[in-house]
Amino acid sequence: VTESRIDFLYLSEEAVIEAGMKDMAACVDVMEETFTLVGEGDYIMGGPTGSEHGVHMFFPVEQKFPGMPVHGPDRRFMAMIAYLGGRFNITGEKWYGSNVENRKRNLPRSILVVMLNDTETGQPLALMSANILSAMRTGAVPGVAARYIAPQDSSLLGLVGAGVISTTCLMGFVEALPELDEVQVFDIDLDKARTFAAEKTEQLGISVRAVDSLEKAVRGADIVNIATSGVKKPVIEDEWLKPGAMLSLPAPAGVSEELLLSSRLVLDDIQMHEDWYEVDQQFPEGDPRGIKMVSGELFRMIDEGKLERERLLGLGDIVCGNVEINRTTAEPSVVIMGGMPVEDVAWGYHVYQQAKAQGIGQKLTLWEEPHWA
Ligand SMILES: NC(=O)c1ccc[n+]([C@@H]2O[C@H](COP(=O)([O-])OP(=O)(O)OC[C@H]3O[C@@H](n4cnc5c(N)ncnc54)[C@H](O)[C@@H]3O)[C@@H](O)[C@H]2O)c1
Repeated sequence: VTESRIDFLYLSEEAVIEAGMKDMAACVDVMEETFTLVGEGDYIMGGPTGSEHGVHMFFPVEQKFPGMPVHGPDRRFMAMIAYLGGRFNITGEKWYGSNVENRKRNLPRSILVVMLNDTETGQPLALMSANILSAMRTGAVPGVAARYIAPQDSSLLGLVGAGVISTTCLMGFVEALPELDEVQVFDIDLDKARTFAAEKTEQLGISVRAVDSLEKAVRGADIVNIATSGVKKPVIEDEWLKPGAMLSLPAPAGVSEELLLSSRLVLDDIQMHEDWYEVDQQFPEGDPRGIKMVSGELFRMIDEGKLERERLLGLGDIVCGNVEINRTTAEPSVVIMGGMPVEDVAWGYHVYQQAKAQGIGQKLTLWEEPHWA
């Protein structure tokens, strides 16, 4: 008989930072390992396909009850669950609420936590603040993708958006691609782009300059990364893209059908995006609550017979070596990253291990003895 007492570790935002949550070099390595496991199939996410991004709670478009929220920009709750195998052998979830109005309350748009559970018993192992976790893993994955897909010796990066996710994407690219030496950044808020450029040049030791148009951020770049928020998504003209460039999409952009049809198409999890597309189909036409991803365009083209599903490549298959990538062709690559709960669980697990080893965090007791066993 083993002990039935359950304790778990609580890690505040300060504690996760102390335990190394902002270590991008480690995060890129952990994401690379995660996508190797994804490529091998050693993971499970929610739903019947085991590939669901998460369970999304949609508020109604029109008021139904006093106090019940109505749909608004970025207003949602979401639970993202996953099991990850290999040395991780861990199960967990990221759970968050998001509301653009938070900005007025001096809060981030989304507030996130990650819970890790023992895969065998289900008992909680850790509950941690996950705003930084989420931003870090989101920035590390484009870095991993670029390492395998971007043109060999990529030196010029174009960033669209100068917010938190652009910051972590830049950190990810810098760690993943030592040959990178120049960055051009555009934001509709030009001052924000200028501040971003000055700060990152100093902090990351790479030359970052602000440009005053989307076109200038895209032209000449070996890698173009889109991380904007809000309703006005950047629309990329085909001829702006350098031959062979990698268009990295952790957030949506407008791209032409022609570009998609003539590019190498990579998704972080093909089935996950297909599940999304199917959820979108269930909303009536014009309903603002759909999850409009660029991948929706791909599945629409597949439905219309314009594109073969076999053209879609999984990032995991590329990282684990199931699919070979020629990095010297003129064919551009479009890499669509919706974000996967396995990434949250993997990076959370890494930081949890570090916290345990360094005695960081607060032990909380679930029970001394289960009341009803
Ligand atoms: N794929 C994933 O796993 C994942 C995870 C987290 C966030 N995201 C997405 O990343 C995006 C960025 O998130 P964030 O937290 O950095 O947002 P943010 O609001 O902090 O920053 C976004 C920036 O984009 C700028 N912007 C808006 N529209 C623009 C346009 N058309 N052209 C140029 N700049 C524009 C804004 O001025 C702002 O500075 C969001 O769309 C978010 O949903 C993706």
